[in-house]
Amino acid sequence: MLTWVNLLLCSVVAVVLGTKNAEEEIFSLAVINYGHLKSAVPSIREFEEKKLLHALETIGFFVLTNHDVSKEIMDKAWNKTREFFDTSKENKMAVPMTKEYMYGYSADEILSRSETKNGYGLGSDQKETFQVFIGGPSTNRAKDVRWPVQPTDMQEAWTNYYRYFFFFLFFFASILPPPFFFFNYTKRACEKVIAGVLQSVARLLKLPDTWFEDKINDHMSALRALNYPQQDQPPPENSIRCSPHSDYGTFTLLRQDDMGGLQVDKKGIDLTK
Ligand SMILES: *[C@@H]1O[C@H](CO)[C@@H](O)[C@H](O)[C@H]1NC(C)=O
Repeated sequence: MLTWVNLLLCSVVAVVLGTKNAEEEIFSLAVINYGHLKSAVPSIREFEEKKLLHALETIGFFVLTNHDVSKEIMDKAWNKTREFFDTSKENKMAVPMTKEYMYGYSADEILSRSETKNGYGLGSDQKETFQVFIGGPSTNRAKDVRWPVQPTDMQEAWTNYYRYFFFFLFFFASILPPPFFFFNYTKRACEKVIAGVLQSVARLLKLPDTWFEDKINDHMSALRALNYPQQDQPPPENSIRCSPHSDYGTFTLLRQDDMGGLQVDKKGIDLTK
C-alpha cells in the first residue's frame, strides 16, 4: 500500500542560507502561498517573501499551498505509482538501483546514511522506492531514464508531474533537435514550482530575478516515490520505516497522502504535530 510519495527536486545549485540564533523562538511550520510569491502586486509578494525568508532561516521546511500543479496530474502520477508498487517483484527488480545507476527501484535504502556513514547504525528502511532523473527541459537526459515495463503509461504520468506539456505540441516539437525539443512547451509542474521558489530566493538575496535560470537549466532533479508496504512480520531489529535524514539538494518538494507519517524534527520536537 502506498502511503506517501516523496518528490525530490534537487538542483545542482547549493543555496547557503544561514540559521539564526533563535534558541528562544517557538517554532511552527509556515504556510507559504505560492500564488502570492508570484503576485504582480508588490506588497502581497513582499509579505510572502518575508515569510519564506523566515521559514528558511529558522526551520528550513515549510508548507507550500496554491502551487497550481493540477490535481489531475498529481493524481494520475500517484495512481501510476501505486500500480507500479503493486506489480510483481520481477517487474520492479527489472529496473534496479545499482552503483552505476543511482535511480530506479530499491527496497534496501538507508536514508540516514545522508547523515552518518552507517546511518546511525540502523538497518535498511522498511520501505521501497522508485526514482527517475528526467533532467532539464533543454537537455535530452530523459532518454537515459529506465522506466518499468508495467504500468505502461507510467512514463507519461511521471513526466507530466515533473514537467507538464501538451502532448500534441510535444509531437510537433519532437521533430526538432535539442535544445528546441521541449522549448516553450513546459508548463507548471514540479520543475516550474521550484524555479519559481528559486526566483523568490534570488529576490531575497537581492539578486536579479533571473539569477538562477542559467544555473538550473541542466539541473539534477529526481522524482522519487516511496512506498511503505503492509508488514505481516515484525520488522528486523534496528529497522524503521524511514530513517531520519536531511536532504542534500537545494529544495525538496514533498507530497504525502492522508495516511500521514511525515515528521519534521526541530531540536527534538516534531513540528507536524
Ligand atoms: C486515481 O485513482 C482513483 C482511485 O482508483 C480514481 O478514482 C481516480 O479517478 C484516479 N485519478 C486519475 C486522475 O487517474
